[in-house]
Amino acid sequence: GGPKIKLNNGSEIPLIGLGTWQAKPGEVAKAVEFAIKEAGYRHIDCAWAYGNEKEVGEGIKASGIPRSEVFVTSKLWGTYHSRVEECLDQTLGNLGLDYLDLYLVHWPVPMNPKGNHPVFPLLPNGKRDVEHTWPLSETWKQMEAVLKKGKVKSIGVSNFSQAKMEEILQSAEIIPVVDQLELHVYNPQHKLISYLKEKKIVPQAYSPLGSTNSPLLSDETVLRLAGKHSLQPADVLLGYLITKGIVALPKSVTPARIAANFNGATFAAEKLQPEDVESLDALAAAGKQKRFITPPWPVDLGFEHWPPL
Ligand code: A2P
Repeated sequence: GGPKIKLNNGSEIPLIGLGTWQAKPGEVAKAVEFAIKEAGYRHIDCAWAYGNEKEVGEGIKASGIPRSEVFVTSKLWGTYHSRVEECLDQTLGNLGLDYLDLYLVHWPVPMNPKGNHPVFPLLPNGKRDVEHTWPLSETWKQMEAVLKKGKVKSIGVSNFSQAKMEEILQSAEIIPVVDQLELHVYNPQHKLISYLKEKKIVPQAYSPLGSTNSPLLSDETVLRLAGKHSLQPADVLLGYLITKGIVALPKSVTPARIAANFNGATFAAEKLQPEDVESLDALAAAGKQKRFITPPWPVDLGFEHWPPL
């Protein structure tokens, strides 16, 4: 299952997980089955909104590995902030599971549950139909309730800046175990990472390779370090995160890459030296700062380097 890290509630999470966003139904079941059965993954990252949970669940089952040995995460969609258990029940039904290891609030943006679209309700002006009056603290209360009921073993958040985290921490009974963010060498969010560390919240990296057609894979410094240690560029990018105690969630539906990412990440984390990590740490500040995933939410999420609303 590869290296693990302890969460603030005592549970352990594998540091490498398979991402499933943009993995199409029709290819994702095979990818998940391969990742678990052949490549050694014990951690799968899903979401209600990805629209492929049924196939992900089929892949988990087809792997033949006992449920208790696989760490499964999913995420609450914005139109369900006021009905957390309903979204969770759909996810559990889709996946064919009776509990999740981890459930996350996908974005700190509640959307109109009665809007004109189940995923992205829009206002007549074309902007996303956001429920501005729904407090995130209420969403979090419902997350705590499904945890207490035993339907999920841990709860956390995703895409939460420090400002949004503080909105829920004020009244939280249970501290989120993770914050899943766009994290990679071009968007390292150093300040937010040290805040999370102080709060004992583990960061998780989505798009750790820089998403589709990534310029990170041909970055000069990444290539230099790959050459230095006989690694692939993807190994360097993933190893960088692992050495920092950041959970990496590389997405792939290609068997060779699924396997290479798992082995390479573990191997690279052992090879990278402090000076290598320092040179990767410095890339963003040296003019390479870049976010790849910035949905047009009509609210200020409080992130650095987010495009203007
Ligand atoms: P594919 O799924 O077709 O294999 P991220 O995890 O940063 O979102 O990156 C996912 C993208 O990177 C996908 O397009 C995926 O393609 C591709 N990818 C995944 N692993 C590798 C790798 N080891 N080398 C090159 N590209 C990769």
